[in-house]
Amino acid sequence: MKTEIIKIEKDPMDEDKLEYAAEVIRAGGLVAFPTETVYGLGANALDERAVKKIFEAKGRPSDNPLIVHIAQRSEADGLVKNKPAYASILMERFWPGPLTLIMDKADVVPRTTTAGLGTVAVRMPSHPVALALIRRSGLPIAAPSANTSGRPSPTCARHVIDDLYGKVDIIIDGGSAAVGLESTVLDITVSPPVILRPGGITPEELEKGLGSVVGIDPGLLRKPAPDLLPKSPGMKYKHYSPKADVVIIEGTLEKVAAKINTLIAEHEAGGMTVGVLATDQTKNLYPSKNTVISMGDRNSPENIAANLFKTLRKFDETGVRLILAEAVENTGIGLAVMNRMTKAAGYNIIRAD
Ligand code: TXA
Ligand code: MG
Repeated sequence: MKTEIIKIEKDPMDEDKLEYAAEVIRAGGLVAFPTETVYGLGANALDERAVKKIFEAKGRPSDNPLIVHIAQRSEADGLVKNKPAYASILMERFWPGPLTLIMDKADVVPRTTTAGLGTVAVRMPSHPVALALIRRSGLPIAAPSANTSGRPSPTCARHVIDDLYGKVDIIIDGGSAAVGLESTVLDITVSPPVILRPGGITPEELEKGLGSVVGIDPGLLRKPAPDLLPKSPGMKYKHYSPKADVVIIEGTLEKVAAKINTLIAEHEAGGMTVGVLATDQTKNLYPSKNTVISMGDRNSPENIAANLFKTLRKFDETGVRLILAEAVENTGIGLAVMNRMTKAAGYNIIRAD
């Protein structure tokens, strides 16, 4: 398939190019586009044939449902039924933005989009190009992250090109994604609501917005029991993986650095090439002969979140076969960072003390 790469500036918005991409959506094609979280791979959410193409292009298992993106809060009403009491409060407070709400689906939403589930995930992104594309197409747009299934999500057009060139009609280049991690997925069919995937909106922000507690799915940081079916089907797959194996080391900073240095020596003695996923605070504590990449400043967890996927992809270019990754604090946006790192590591976590 021929893939066109279109650069669209936000300000002023290039309306002609946008109309061209919107027409491809209306015609049942695939358009990768920027959002504030990560790039999405979009198609008409109401057209089963178009949605099937998303699953094919990504190599995505057909039992993993898609998020439906809208450009106005009121558009959710046509996609869901039994809108829970929490819904309006959350939409007012967090939309547009990185929060996805799970609600019972209306009949217009095809089962292909929801992977057979009776619920649908809905989100109103805040990126101006995403909003404009949805508005122009006049349709709700189903969009998973625009990566090959299993790889780290794309935070810039280059990542999308690397994974999906030749498999989609259009890739819109709208610069780097600001948040860098996907949206928070919140199930509001239950009371209290439960976070199925931590993301751009933190549990603390949700509780403040709702004035009440939210639950957290127990599988977010620990390996779920094999017989426990996760409520968010996507969470059961190996995810966010660079080509190298990843091991997380947690504990106090000095002990983590010491442990990583011991592990480097051990693994190199066995002929392994080892890299370190470090932070600004620790990056100079490791041998300069090793590939050491900082994910950012520990005092700026948002910065670490924005860099994580980009950093994981960078290791692919270096050829290291093992990445020793420092754990970060798992509060605030750090919960989402640790969730993605834990998945990338296949739950392989070592305590340094
Ligand atoms: O930030 C984001 O959410 C990005 C951008 C493009 O909007 N999209 C994204 O989509 O991350 P995806 O497909 O990579 O992840 C969607 C997650 C999956 O874990 C999926 O299983 C879950 O949401 N999900 C979707 N519909 C669901 C449903 N009805 N019930 C439970 N989980 C659902
Ligand atoms: Mg994804």
